[in-house]
Amino acid sequence: MKSLLLFFLLITTVFSEYLSGLNRTFDEIELKVVDLYVTLPEAEVNNLIKITQITEATIKSGGARNAKDFEYEGAVIVAKWNGQEKTFENAKFKTGGMYARANDKAAFNIKLDKKFLGRKNIRLRPDPKDKSHLRSKLCCDIANRIGLPSIQASYARLYMNGEFWGLYTLMDAVKTSWIRQTFNPSETEIKTLYQCKNGGFNFKSGSYSKCVNANDDYPSMDAFKKFVENVSKCKTSEEVERFMDVDIFLKYLAFEWLIGSFDHFTIYGHNFNFYKRETDGKWVIIYYDYDNTFGHGLKTNYWASKGPNQDGSNSNNNTGNNGRGGMWGGNMGFGGGNNNNNRGNDPIQYSFADWELNIPIIKTIVYQNKDRFKEIVRHVLVSAFNPDLLNSHIEKLHNFLIPYVEEDSTPDKNGILPGRINRKGIKITSSVAEFENDIETSIKYWINTKFEVACKNYDFEPNDIINASKEYIPKPYDYSYSSPKSTKTLPYILVLFPLFQLQY
Ligand SMILES: *[C@@H]1O[C@H](CO)[C@@H](O)[C@H](O)[C@H]1NC(C)=O
Ligand SMILES: *[C@@H]1O[C@H](CO)[C@@H](O)[C@H](O)[C@H]1NC(C)=O
Ligand SMILES: *[C@@H]1O[C@H](CO)[C@@H](O)[C@H](O)[C@H]1NC(C)=O
Ligand SMILES: *[C@@H]1O[C@H](CO)[C@@H](O)[C@H](O)[C@H]1NC(C)=O
Repeated sequence: MKSLLLFFLLITTVFSEYLSGLNRTFDEIELKVVDLYVTLPEAEVNNLIKITQITEATIKSGGARNAKDFEYEGAVIVAKWNGQEKTFENAKFKTGGMYARANDKAAFNIKLDKKFLGRKNIRLRPDPKDKSHLRSKLCCDIANRIGLPSIQASYARLYMNGEFWGLYTLMDAVKTSWIRQTFNPSETEIKTLYQCKNGGFNFKSGSYSKCVNANDDYPSMDAFKKFVENVSKCKTSEEVERFMDVDIFLKYLAFEWLIGSFDHFTIYGHNFNFYKRETDGKWVIIYYDYDNTFGHGLKTNYWASKGPNQDGSNSNNNTGNNGRGGMWGGNMGFGGGNNNNNRGNDPIQYSFADWELNIPIIKTIVYQNKDRFKEIVRHVLVSAFNPDLLNSHIEKLHNFLIPYVEEDSTPDKNGILPGRINRKGIKITSSVAEFENDIETSIKYWINTKFEVACKNYDFEPNDIINASKEYIPKPYDYSYSSPKSTKTLPYILVLFPLFQLQY
């Protein structure tokens, strides 16, 4: 009896963790910081600093795409984490990011000569405008927990030639090596991974040109072009299913709406990859880049010329909300005329149909199959996006981050914050008070409100979702997926199910 009780306790503690049971290679750095000691020749550091002097005006005039990158091959990087240490003798260290290049704290992309936590490509993102330090991390975690093929996140401190350069979100990156490490295909050269980086991809037939082949050695666009043309001709979701894993795409769409991202498919049309899976020849979408979420950077002028919702819905019934207008960085009310169809001035209240910009493929796969999408939304709410699950996860991250945010907010003897190397860039303040305030007033507010909106839109009883969520056992995406009728995990569920019955 006693051992049975112990077993229950074990199960509950294991499953009460937001990310447990997901088989992430980053599990060992969850709620831990990785210290990265980078060594570059002094002249290269000077060059790096010179290249990163970028003004907001340069970026606004379209300079983000043409911005010169600093890049150095041969960096020595010592990683220390969790009592462990590993040295990388020949790493490529470069600057990264797009519009965020105008910020004072720079972003970096690192390519290692051998694997670190199962990955060779990692990104360090300062997201200096994200005072909560949570946006990128939480979104990666949510996608992991939904069971999507997805990147992972934790935190790192960067030391450049011994100088402390601050706190960063550490993420892996979808590159050909990532595909090899996750999908583990038999082909040695990955030729069908495409990256949609610059915006404007929407599955209309010409929009394939907005993306690029992620393998520099095989720049061919042919496979992707054919895929996009094929999909653009489809009249039903079943037809789309022949070419693409629609389930994954729908989950990402629901996720994108719930986290309030205008920086993925439904609005800007970028920050994702497409990979043609070897096992069944179907294409899979994988998102990245999550700093513009949970209300950050949201402006109503994204919808200024949208027109009526393509599903015929006239308005979100939750509009008429007053009092929160203007909270999103004073950006509300731009663009005039966006009040058509009573979409309202607070995008957090938008239904999915209000949110997306009437993209044809969404009509085919979402509105012609409303029940299916409703189930997808329910899955996302139950598995990952609800206040009950997220608030306790956020609390843990919050407590873990306090000392690191404090350190990142402490100026050096010249009054400069760590790693704010772009002296021409936008100066962004940092403090523990702003960090905590952003978590409460933006992140938690967004999650609570969006959860309510989603439940109202789809007629879900919030407590029913929360109850189902407590019993939900998260599963990682099955990268070896090959057939839609896989029953591999069934015995496992059958074993655990009676235990949960007893427990609740
Ligand atoms: C866990 O991930 C590793 C690769 O990181 C993979 O080989 C293994 O099959 C996965 N296990 C499960 C249960 O998904
Ligand atoms: C496009 O459709 C054709 C005809 O059904 C098929 O042979 C081809 O494999 C498809 N291409 C892609 C990239 O899915
Ligand atoms: C909107 O509200 C009306 C009445 O208040 C209701 O009949 C209708 O079903 C609602 N529509 C949606 C999409 O919730
Ligand atoms: C959720 O669970 C609680 C506690 O077990 C129960 O009282 C409540 O009726 C449930 N609510 C729904 C909507 O299922």
